[in-house]
Amino acid sequence: MTAHDDRWLLRTDTTTYAVTLGGDGRWAELAAWGPHGAEDGPSPLERSRRTHFITPADTAPAEYIPYGLRPFTGADLIASRPGGDRGSWWRFTGAAQDQDRALRLEFTDDLLGLRTTLHYRTVPGTDVVLRWTELTCTGETEVRLERFDSAAVNVPVQGGARLTYLAGQWSQEFQLKDVRLERGRFETESTQGSAGHAYHPWLAIQDAAAPAEGATPTYGIALEWSGNWRITADAEPGGSVRVRAGRVPHEGAVRLAPGATLVTPRLACAFSPDGLGGLARVWHRYERHLTGARIDRPRKVLYNSWEATGFDVDAAGQLELARTAAELGAELFVVDDGWFTGRPDDRGGLGDWDPDPAEFPGGFDRFVEDVRALGLDFGLWVEPEGISPRSGLYAEHPEWVYRIDGRPATLVRNQLLLDLGREDVQDFVTGTLDRLLDSHAVSYLKWDMNRPPTERGRPGHPAGPDPELHDLDAAHVAGYLRVLDHLRTAHPHVTVEGCAGGGARVEHATLARTDVVWPSDNTAPLDRLRIQYGYLHAHAPHTMSSWVTDAPGIFDPRPRSLAFRFVSSLTGVLGIGADIRRWTPEQRAEAARWIARYKEIRDVVHHGEVHLLGSPEDPTCGIQYEEPGSARLVVAAWNTGPLDGAPLVPGRAARLRLRGLRPDAVYADTATGIRYSGAHLLHSGLPFAWTAERDAELTVLARQ
Ligand code: DGJ
Repeated sequence: MTAHDDRWLLRTDTTTYAVTLGGDGRWAELAAWGPHGAEDGPSPLERSRRTHFITPADTAPAEYIPYGLRPFTGADLIASRPGGDRGSWWRFTGAAQDQDRALRLEFTDDLLGLRTTLHYRTVPGTDVVLRWTELTCTGETEVRLERFDSAAVNVPVQGGARLTYLAGQWSQEFQLKDVRLERGRFETESTQGSAGHAYHPWLAIQDAAAPAEGATPTYGIALEWSGNWRITADAEPGGSVRVRAGRVPHEGAVRLAPGATLVTPRLACAFSPDGLGGLARVWHRYERHLTGARIDRPRKVLYNSWEATGFDVDAAGQLELARTAAELGAELFVVDDGWFTGRPDDRGGLGDWDPDPAEFPGGFDRFVEDVRALGLDFGLWVEPEGISPRSGLYAEHPEWVYRIDGRPATLVRNQLLLDLGREDVQDFVTGTLDRLLDSHAVSYLKWDMNRPPTERGRPGHPAGPDPELHDLDAAHVAGYLRVLDHLRTAHPHVTVEGCAGGGARVEHATLARTDVVWPSDNTAPLDRLRIQYGYLHAHAPHTMSSWVTDAPGIFDPRPRSLAFRFVSSLTGVLGIGADIRRWTPEQRAEAARWIARYKEIRDVVHHGEVHLLGSPEDPTCGIQYEEPGSARLVVAAWNTGPLDGAPLVPGRAARLRLRGLRPDAVYADTATGIRYSGAHLLHSGLPFAWTAERDAELTVLARQ
C-alpha cells in the first residue's frame, strides 16, 4: 500500500466521491459526494471541532469506524477478544488506489490483532460506487465480531432528512413510504434469512424539504445480501445523516480465527441530482450491468399455471392451458407447484423431486414434448430448500433440516427448511436440479422459497453461545449463491426466476444470478400497480415478472379492465396467470392483441430510460420508457380513480406530462398518427380520455 495524499477521489459517470482522513489520521471521512466538481470547495460535512460530552469521533462523517474510537453515536464495527474488552482503537496503515476507479484504505489494531480494509470500486457506465470491508484476524487469538457493517454512508442533508424506504408484508411488498428524520434513529432489518417481505434492503436519502419530483440531490444505498440484514440511519449531532448497512449474524456474533478474513457484502451507493426518479434510473442502469450479456435475451411471454390450477396439476389440464396460451401468443409455459409426487396440497412432496406418474400417465417427457410441440418453451417450479416432513428425503436425511436439539421445529406452510449451508445439502440440490434439467427439456426454472428459517441450528452442533458459533446465515447464503452460480455455468440456456413467497428474496446478489424475479403473489390490478410502482424505484423493469390474472383486489377490490391488467403487466416482463380456459373468445382476442403489442415494445421497456409519471395515489398515473437513441417512447397510463366516466374535470382529458424530451423534437402516435411537439408533451402532457370502459392506455410515440 502506498502512503496517502490527503484526499482520494473516485469518479463514476457523472459523480465524484471524495474521501479524506480525519481525526488526525485515525479514520477515513467523506469529503464530498455529488456531481463532478462538487468536490471543489469546502466540504459540506465540515463542522465545528468543539464537542461537549462526546468525542470528536462521535461527530465525524466517518466512512467506517469501530466502537471504541466512536463510543456514543453509532459504530460500524464492534470487535473484541472472546471474554475481552469490547472495542477497537486502530491506526491508519496505508492506502492503494487504482486511478479514480478503486481504492483501499487500511486500518490496523495491533493490540486486538485486527486489520480492517475499506474497499471502494466504481461501476463502469453507472453512478454507483460499491463499498465493502475486509476484516482479518492478524493476532494469535481469535476476534469476536458483534457488528461488522459493510459501510457507512454520510449524507450532508439540509434541514433534516427525508428517508424513503420500501416496506410491506406478504402480498403487499414494495410499498413506497417516507419518514422525516431530524433527530434519533431509523432502522429496518430482516432476520428471515432473506431480504424479507417487511422491509427492503434499500434506502433513499434527501433533504427533508426536497420536492416530491424533479431536480433535488438524492442519495441511495442497496445491500447485496441474500440473508439477514440491517440498515440504520442516524441523525448526526451536526445535522447530517449517517447510514450504516450490513449483515446481522444469526448467532449474534461471528468468530474470526487467527489468519482468517471476513468479507462483508457489498453496499451499492448511488447518487442522482434528479430526485427519486433519477435515482431509480441509476439503479436500473446498475441492474442492467448486473444482468450482463443476458440483458440481450428477450424475456419471453410466459404462461404460469399457479393461479389457474393451484396444486391440481395434471397433464390434460395443463395441456389445455398450454394450447390456449400458445394461441394467445405466449412463448413459454411454466408448470408451477404441484407437479411432483406427494404434492396434492402443501403438506407433502417437497424434497422428492420426481414428476407424479399419476398426473402424467403418458410420461412426463411426453407431456413436455406436447407442450413444446405447441411452439412453447417449457419451465418448472422448484423449491430447492423446502422439505416436507412427510417426504422420502426427510425420512432419509432428517439431519439436513435446521433444528435445535431438544426443541420443537416450527412448521411454516406445513414445511421445514433444508440447511443449505451444508455442502452435502448443496450437492443434493445441485444434483437434483442437474437431473431435472438434463433429463427433461426444461429451459426455465422458478426457484421459490416459502418459509424463513426459525429454529436455526445444526442437529448435534449447538449454535452459540461461544465457542460454537457457526455463522449459519452466511453459510446458507453461500450455498444458495453457489447453486445459482452453478445453474448459470452448467445450464446457461436456462432462464431462472427468483421468488420467495412473492418478493421476499429480491436484492442484488439474487438479481445478479437470476433473469427475473417475482415481486409479489398479489396480482390484483390496483394492488399490483402500487407494488410495481415501489419496485421500479429500486429495480429495473427487465427483472420484474408480472402476470395478467383474474384475481380480485386483496387491498383494493375495485374492479379494473383486462386492458388495465395487460398495460400494467407489460411494464415489466409480461406473463399470463389467469385461467384462460374460461376466457371468452373476445377476451382471448384482446389478449392476443396485447401480447402482440408487447412483443413490439418489450425492447424499449427492458432497455429504455424510465420516468415514473405521478403515482398510483393519483387518479391518473403512468410510466414513460424512452428507447436508447430516443427513436420511440412508450407510455403506459392508468386511470386509478373512480370509474365514473372521468376525466375528473368534466369535458377535459386527463394529462400526463412527459419528461426528458427535447422540446423541439416532434413525436407521432403510431396508432392514431396524432403529432405532438416535445414542448407540448413536456408542458401540456399526453392526453387520456378515460371512460368507464377505458381505464388504461399504451401509447407508442415515434420521433419524426
Ligand atoms: C409462492 C409463489 O410466490 C407463488 O407464485 C407460487 O409459486 C406458490 N408459492 C406455489 O406454492
